[in-house]
Amino acid sequence: MKRCDRQVDIGRRWFLSGGAVAAAGAAAATVMPQKADASPQLARLRYPSNRLANVADLKPNEPLQVAYPDKDAPGVLLKLGKAVPGGAGPDSDIVGFTTTCPHKGFPLAYNSSDKTLNCSGHYSRFDAENGGQEIWGHATQNLPQYQLRIDAKGDIYAEGVDELLYGRLSNVL
Ligand code: FES
Repeated sequence: MKRCDRQVDIGRRWFLSGGAVAAAGAAAATVMPQKADASPQLARLRYPSNRLANVADLKPNEPLQVAYPDKDAPGVLLKLGKAVPGGAGPDSDIVGFTTTCPHKGFPLAYNSSDKTLNCSGHYSRFDAENGGQEIWGHATQNLPQYQLRIDAKGDIYAEGVDELLYGRLSNVL
């Protein structure tokens, strides 16, 4: 018997004796999905709780300039006069938004006649009464809205933002 034939014969006997089955079982066991021990990390940020103003500082349908979550992130507080999505306060009508356009970062101006925030860059428009929804333009996301809390003294705190601010990899630097 030639050397090559002997090796084939040994391999055949090993296979028939169950060695291959055991090896296949061991291989399968190593690729079977296992339950992970570690729980996945949540992709959440720790936002600061910043006092932006007091309810008494707001006039109906007039923008109050603020900044959140830091001084380099301009925004606005609005008292819209009716309950709206994301609205805080006793009438659920106080909202806050960034005033940096999510398209390419131009500043936004408030239009009190239709309660929209408008971009002079490429004319995107965002509805302040509807969670900053884009109603026209080039932007591919709605306007980031603040999560607000109002305490018993009427102080207005921002404690989060619901979309990524323009030009940032993270809202909290
Ligand atoms: Fe506002 Fe382009 S920067 S629409």
